[in-house]
Amino acid sequence: MRNKIQSYINEIQSLKSEALQNKIADIEQFRIKFLGKKGVISELFGQFKDVPNEQKKEIGQLLNQLKVAAQTKIEELRSSVAETISDDSGNCDLTMPTDFSELGSRHVLSVVQNEIIEIFSRIGFTVSEAPEIEDDWHVFSALNFPPEHPARDMQDTFFVEKEGQHGDVVLRTHTSSVQVREMERSKPPIRIIAPGRVFRNEAISARAHCIFHQVEGLYIDKNVSFADLKQALLYFAKEMFGPDTRIRLRPSYFPFTEPSAEMDISCNICGGKGCNICKHTGWLEILGCGMVDPNVLEASGIDSNVYSGFAFGMGVERMAMLKYQIRDLRLYFENDLRFLKQFDTLI
Ligand code: DAH
Repeated sequence: MRNKIQSYINEIQSLKSEALQNKIADIEQFRIKFLGKKGVISELFGQFKDVPNEQKKEIGQLLNQLKVAAQTKIEELRSSVAETISDDSGNCDLTMPTDFSELGSRHVLSVVQNEIIEIFSRIGFTVSEAPEIEDDWHVFSALNFPPEHPARDMQDTFFVEKEGQHGDVVLRTHTSSVQVREMERSKPPIRIIAPGRVFRNEAISARAHCIFHQVEGLYIDKNVSFADLKQALLYFAKEMFGPDTRIRLRPSYFPFTEPSAEMDISCNICGGKGCNICKHTGWLEILGCGMVDPNVLEASGIDSNVYSGFAFGMGVERMAMLKYQIRDLRLYFENDLRFLKQFDTLI
């Protein structure tokens, strides 16, 4: 019996020094071995009932010391792992769950541009693209801007220097150039929508920017009339700004359309009663449009005696401003997250 008690004491002491030295790297393994339900300490406590009464106090203390030593060691190990994870030494546990990282959102201009494309695609328009760096022909001449004509000054152009050539290469000032490219490469019927960036030499302010986005539309077929244009645009306005939206067309001038018009929608803020946004007119200007000038059809090789068509062009920034009441154009390009996060909640 004496021997048995002595080896019991020895075991407690050797386990205590093992716990203090800890040769086990895995904390969980350590915990199971020492403090688990079937671990060594619980086994030793199980044998405690055989200890003679006069030694119970002394041996009980040893057992408790062992338990405290094991618990302290675990705490130590745990906090050293936590430190490793939070320091920058690269010694981190890659299996630890990470913080949830925030998702980005789509830019409001993309959201609005996609919506415009989607609305027109439902009535058969497909997307067409063309270069941002263009020549004079596609941006001006083929669109019926005669050389030296004052209409060229409607758009302040960035010219691109190219060896030996001056004045021919430009950053496109409008997406109407895509009309020409499309008419050159395909035969009617043509029904395209052309979203893209355009460039104008303008000082940056709340209401103007040197880079912005437009969406151009072009429909060419036999017997296309002004009534078709009006109906397509009425459909667009209702889809974009709500079913109660009304439109009006005011006569205007563009070299590439005849007749030309500007389209207003009834103010979507006050419903047409008059407010600050519509400057108390009840109307908001949203796009330019018209019947494609026969000169433009001919310049791109389309017989104007057989075909007719309509075209329209709108600014995406302006559309987004009206839809979301954004007051300053610069917000689109500053990339302030507080602004960007407000629009797209889709992943
Ligand atoms: N290109 C014109 C602009 O940038 C917008 C425009 C007006 C496009 C009338 C058209 C149109 O296709 O028919 O101001």
